[in-house]
Amino acid sequence: MRKIVVCGNWKMNKTVSESVQLAKEVVAAAQGVDKAVIAIAPTFLAAAKVADVLAGTNVKLAVQDIHFADQGAFTGKVSVDMAKDIGVEMVILGHSEQRQYFGETDELINKKVVKVLEAGLTPIVCIGETLEEREGGKLEDVLTTQLKGAYAGVSEADAAKTVVAYEPVWAIGTGVTATDEQAQDTQAYVRSVLKDLYSEALAESVSIQYGGSMKPGNAAGLLSQTDIDGGLIGGASLDAEMFLGVVKAAP
Ligand code: PGA
Repeated sequence: MRKIVVCGNWKMNKTVSESVQLAKEVVAAAQGVDKAVIAIAPTFLAAAKVADVLAGTNVKLAVQDIHFADQGAFTGKVSVDMAKDIGVEMVILGHSEQRQYFGETDELINKKVVKVLEAGLTPIVCIGETLEEREGGKLEDVLTTQLKGAYAGVSEADAAKTVVAYEPVWAIGTGVTATDEQAQDTQAYVRSVLKDLYSEALAESVSIQYGGSMKPGNAAGLLSQTDIDGGLIGGASLDAEMFLGVVKAAP
């Protein structure tokens, strides 16, 4: 039985005090909810204070990126040990905004995936196509390349500890969601690539989230699909009730 994993990606939103407040609201709303693994990813600046709020609760702490080096002269970056030290358990990697705006490549994402696994944390490996790529018939190629790149050199035992987030770029922050069928078909394809890269057992065990304008109103349909095992939630995660509305929509 695959785990349902729902992670809030707060992106560059909320001051530290606002983050603490929202984290408290999420914790209150999540009390007793055991349908899914629940996580939130505040900014790095807010992460340590949010960690205090989440300690001993059923909400895990995630961050939105990490650097692959242990420490040193990497201005502006945060290491995986620094994240682990404050209680981070999950790390979002390869988000399309990192790829699009900051030039992140599959090779770089792979280094980060390896580092996060080495530290014993859970990478959430984001993949997804642009509208142009989908309409140009490149959907499968793009997803295959991204997956092969991210998992290069990763053993099957380690791959089993990852979560994949399929996020069609055209659905992120646009209010346009993939239809249940589009998401299901694509996520079944993603699973088939994992099978080709590793094995059927591995592919069947990895949770694949959907991401892109997911909210309480469309979550039930998406989460009832065979190959959709949770969500990576942007906009709707900035409101505790909406975020938990997504979690509660899980079958
Ligand atoms: P969205 O963002 O829910 O605001 O579309 C999802 C994401 O980028 O992870």
